[in-house]
Amino acid sequence: MKKINIAIVGLGTIGSYFYNFISKNKDAISKKTNVIPNIIYVCARNPKKKRLFKIPKKKWAKKYTDIVKDKNVDVVVELIGGSDGAAKDLVIKALLNKKHVVTANKALIAKHGDKLSKIAEEKKVNLEYEAAVCGGVPIIRSIKEGLIANKIQKVYGIFNGTSNYILSSMDQNKLQFKNVLIKAQRLGYAENNPESDLNGEDVASKVQILSSLSFNSFINKNIHIEGIKNIDMDDISNADKLGYKIKLLGFSELINNKIYQRVHPTLINKSSYIASINGVLNAVIVNGLPVGKSVIQGEGAGPSATTSALISDVSSILRGNIKYPFVISNKKRKKLHSGNISKLSFSAYVRLDVKDKHGVLSNITKTFSRFKVSIKRLIQNPAKSKKNSSIVIITHRALDLNLQKTLKILSKKNYMIKKPKLIRIENN
Ligand SMILES: NC(=O)c1ccc[n+]([C@@H]2O[C@H](COP(=O)([O-])OP(=O)(O)OC[C@H]3O[C@@H](n4cnc5c(N)ncnc54)[C@H](OP(=O)(O)O)[C@@H]3O)[C@@H](O)[C@H]2O)c1
Repeated sequence: MKKINIAIVGLGTIGSYFYNFISKNKDAISKKTNVIPNIIYVCARNPKKKRLFKIPKKKWAKKYTDIVKDKNVDVVVELIGGSDGAAKDLVIKALLNKKHVVTANKALIAKHGDKLSKIAEEKKVNLEYEAAVCGGVPIIRSIKEGLIANKIQKVYGIFNGTSNYILSSMDQNKLQFKNVLIKAQRLGYAENNPESDLNGEDVASKVQILSSLSFNSFINKNIHIEGIKNIDMDDISNADKLGYKIKLLGFSELINNKIYQRVHPTLINKSSYIASINGVLNAVIVNGLPVGKSVIQGEGAGPSATTSALISDVSSILRGNIKYPFVISNKKRKKLHSGNISKLSFSAYVRLDVKDKHGVLSNITKTFSRFKVSIKRLIQNPAKSKKNSSIVIITHRALDLNLQKTLKILSKKNYMIKKPKLIRIENN
């Protein structure tokens, strides 16, 4: 049976698991692909670091720059991470040297995917990145192959396991954000520096990649990003009383030939499918024609789920055929214009923590009507001190621009004791 030589660069959480999985499942993979996956080299930053498993000495490469020049290497698996630096340098050099590349690096693909796919196409090699979006959920291959017949109009969902774990634990276990984050880090869901999980950047990278695949366009950098750091237990419990759950969702839509990309905490109906996706699970929903609504869910992160996606990429290479990294040739991808969130309309949850004094409520309602935002429900929760109160408003659909203007004016009022909060509502 033919053998294909694989070099793994990066032996951290993912690389270690991936190395061991391939080593133990070589036969099963060869049965399915008719090719033997052979790990010829591994490489990490510090070869002297104590690893939890044995790797034969002869497999260790000192530097990745040696690997990319080695004629015996067919596939390079990049598991270093980061949008630039060593990861970018390795992938570019590997592609230029006609090596197929597999990567789990969403930051790299979202930032440099266009440039990298151009090199891959010119050099006639594969650039595969299933593991970069939603871990074990095979959404990339679904869009590229299973859903190839479709004109996709919208792709959205829960794309970050850490933030979903935090929001669902706050909801189910009534724990404060800070405490859940500590627990998530202890359990290994959140990284030591969970910044990009919490500020929405991680979801944004995935949305940009999915947009590009769905709409056959170049990666579009224009994206509205809000994370979950401002969500507190009061928001969770207000949402619950009103029949909603709060989720961090990513959206990409094609409206009048313009791409609208956004990431923000979202109120969704408790009875909706997406409200039932809890813990570290991810879910991706694709609206396309002729398929209609297609849903795929699963473990979004962690070494086992990510390895499942990496093996799918490796197997695709083992089976042969050169595929375009973004479904179609770079020569045919479009540069689509993007639209701004301010032009979209939403119902919204608005929370105003105010001094409880005469005239405040009428001033608030006047401000809403000044910007043509009509109020559907208004609930006033007096604080224990009775000097303050928290006003929760659910608006009818209004232009996002007008919602923003309303909040901007309200934030300057002297009766406001905290920055006003707005969470958009999705009616799907
Ligand atoms: N963790 C997840 O759940 C998850 C899920 C999906 C995708 N991903 C993606 O998978 C990738 C790897 O993530 P991870 O969690 O495994 O990261 P990690 O644990 O930090 O591992 C990074 C590895 O890269 C090595 N490395 C760093 N600089 C290097 C260099 N210049 N040359 C060679 N090796 C170098 C490190 O070497 P040392 O071991 O010597 O320090 C380490 O083995 C990232 O792109 C991440 O976004 C991760």
